[in-house]
Amino acid sequence: MAKMWAGRTAGNTDQIADDFNSSIHFDSRMYQQDITGSMAHAAMLAKQGIIAKAEADTLIDGLAGILSDLEEGKLAIDMTAEDIHMFVEQVLTERLGEVGKKLHTARSRNDQVALDLRMYLRAEIDEIAALARALVATVTDKAEEYADVILPGYTHLQRAQPILFGHHLMAYAMMLLRDLDRLADCRKRMNQSPIGCCALAGTTYETDRRFEAERLGFDGICRNSLDGVSDRDFALEMLSALSILMMHLSRFSEEIILWCSWEFKFVELSDAYTTGSSIMPQKKNPDMAELVRGKTGRVYGDLMALLTTLKGIPLAYNKDMQEDKESIFDAVDTVKMCLQVFDGMVATMVANRENMLRAAQKGFINATDLADYLVKKGMPFRSAYKISGQLVAKCIAENTVLEELSLDVYRAYSDLFDQDLYDAISLRTCVETRISEGGTSLASVREQISYVKERLK
Ligand code: ARG
Repeated sequence: MAKMWAGRTAGNTDQIADDFNSSIHFDSRMYQQDITGSMAHAAMLAKQGIIAKAEADTLIDGLAGILSDLEEGKLAIDMTAEDIHMFVEQVLTERLGEVGKKLHTARSRNDQVALDLRMYLRAEIDEIAALARALVATVTDKAEEYADVILPGYTHLQRAQPILFGHHLMAYAMMLLRDLDRLADCRKRMNQSPIGCCALAGTTYETDRRFEAERLGFDGICRNSLDGVSDRDFALEMLSALSILMMHLSRFSEEIILWCSWEFKFVELSDAYTTGSSIMPQKKNPDMAELVRGKTGRVYGDLMALLTTLKGIPLAYNKDMQEDKESIFDAVDTVKMCLQVFDGMVATMVANRENMLRAAQKGFINATDLADYLVKKGMPFRSAYKISGQLVAKCIAENTVLEELSLDVYRAYSDLFDQDLYDAISLRTCVETRISEGGTSLASVREQISYVKERLK
């Protein structure tokens, strides 16, 4: 494609330099935003008397034609064009002649690309939020299904205290709700219009930036033209929010991978979300969870790439900034795929109640409750903690568990022990008595579930 900026330069760009410089193979995905933005621009130019109303109508019709031709496959994007902005303008001029050349009045590709990217990402945030919301609903449904299933809660990956599987799952629902909040918050700052900042300094024409912003669904305008064309904070904020979201999915993935192992066997994933081995016939591998965990690194990489690109560039636009798009597009695509596959994987995941309970019955995870039992009968916590520890040591030495020790043995350690201790240290009691707000009791889990359902409305 011929260069629109030929004039100052006469010689042709080197072929390799041309390919290197071009961004059309990744920014063409913003064609819809580019065209919609241009339509609003043409309308504004006419409203302000900068071009004639009839000219604006011609431009807008021409742009609408390009949009529908692209969508219907009647017009192919020319991959030799420099970028999507040049491509659209060039086709418009080919189709309309002289009037096509009026579109770029009081505008620059610098504010145009910033506009397109904000509009594109704003729509992506909405899509990602919808997928994340669906995942929260799925996780919450699972939590409801398995609300009363006991499993060990861990710290340091050592069995710590019994908890309900519903409680464990709801922890992830809470994380995902915060991810949704972060995305919504980032969208607010993203939704300020840079169009009209022009190349860097604004323009001598009497434009109406607010008219354009309003037409394009923005909440306001960027208030400094240099900032408007130089700012990519909105992409960084989104990448940060996506990185944190991926970190949550990655932790969840890691747990699912552990739970699927023969060592745990807490859950079984559906065949639809697992793969086999080409050599080991017994294998059922949690590839989807592993890939989500793996792809987290890639989204972090996208964030780091853009942070690093931006850190040293002076105001205002520099070509370095063209590098913003591949990072953020990669993150967007990755997160959307991960959320979808993760949702299906969790929805079809089956918990093994017996194995979870069995694991909870081993590791003395009621030792805290044994100590609390003595405390409730008047012993200071530190002394109770010591006796409880001694009893655990005795169990380990004799290869037994706290529930199996006789009352006589208990009484040898403290005469505060009575028959009711057995009920106090039963796993069900341990869980049911953790009634503090946000604790693992069934009532608390139910409360969390209704809170999340309310938030999803
Ligand atoms: N393709 C460019 C980008 O993605 C568009 C802006 C180009 N502006 C310029 N003055 N070279 O950043």
